[in-house]
Amino acid sequence: MTTIEKDALLDYARSLEGKSFKEHATGAVHPVLYAFEDGAQEGSPYIDLYSKGKREGWDPAHDLAWSTSVDPESPILPEEMCGLYGSDIWERLTPRERTRARHWNGAWTLGQFLHGERGALLATAQLVGCAPRTDQKLYAATQVQDEARHVEAYERYVREKMEKTFSPSPHLVALLDAILLDSRWDMKFLGMQILVEGLALAAFGWIRRFSQEPLIKEIITRIQRDEARHVAFGVAALSERYKDLSDSERRAETRCGRRWASPSRSAVRPCSPRSP
Ligand SMILES: [Fe+2]
Ligand SMILES: [Fe+2]
Repeated sequence: MTTIEKDALLDYARSLEGKSFKEHATGAVHPVLYAFEDGAQEGSPYIDLYSKGKREGWDPAHDLAWSTSVDPESPILPEEMCGLYGSDIWERLTPRERTRARHWNGAWTLGQFLHGERGALLATAQLVGCAPRTDQKLYAATQVQDEARHVEAYERYVREKMEKTFSPSPHLVALLDAILLDSRWDMKFLGMQILVEGLALAAFGWIRRFSQEPLIKEIITRIQRDEARHVAFGVAALSERYKDLSDSERRAETRCGRRWASPSRSAVRPCSPRSP
């Protein structure tokens, strides 16, 4: 697949149903910029984030208490995050069925976080190539390392503690494809650093606040700290970028972002084309 230009995001997501993520591939084409300048990083806010990223590095294999005993049927995530919660179906479930629903919902939700982190790893690797400034490229390289850590931590938690794995939601894959396939560096920033990571930060905050399971709370606390840097980078880079856009270009990008954020009525790339 090389393009999803004319497909509505929802239709595209439906076309992915039942397919294996392992065999999934996109034909992403984006510019790779040799934008290296000597001394360009002096006094840069991106270099502050880059330095912070280096200082705050952590190792999931050694810094997390993997010996913690976790009952996958315990309320690891808040019950309210279960899709059935509060519905008539939920009310009719027996206590045993609710326990099972909680387990499956927890495994599914954390599994989607894992798949999202895998997509973030791919997208961030693209940012190293397509970011237009030396200091942004250096920062983006630390984010690649961050996302690899997040993949490692979630993968191990889901496999060892939840004891159940799920494929990625086709809607998530469709959104990741939209980001990976877009050739414009600023739209990759908008999609990954603002939309996906902003949503993830909100969900992580909810789990961290209400979960009683100490290992997942520690994982999420560490990941949240990294993600806050990622969002800060996206905000800084886009603020700078949008200063240079005309009103019509800014409106076009806003429309595209809204479509990505609202898959039910979106098309992936009917946004007005603009040179990267
Ligand atoms: Fe991440
Ligand atoms: Fe991130």
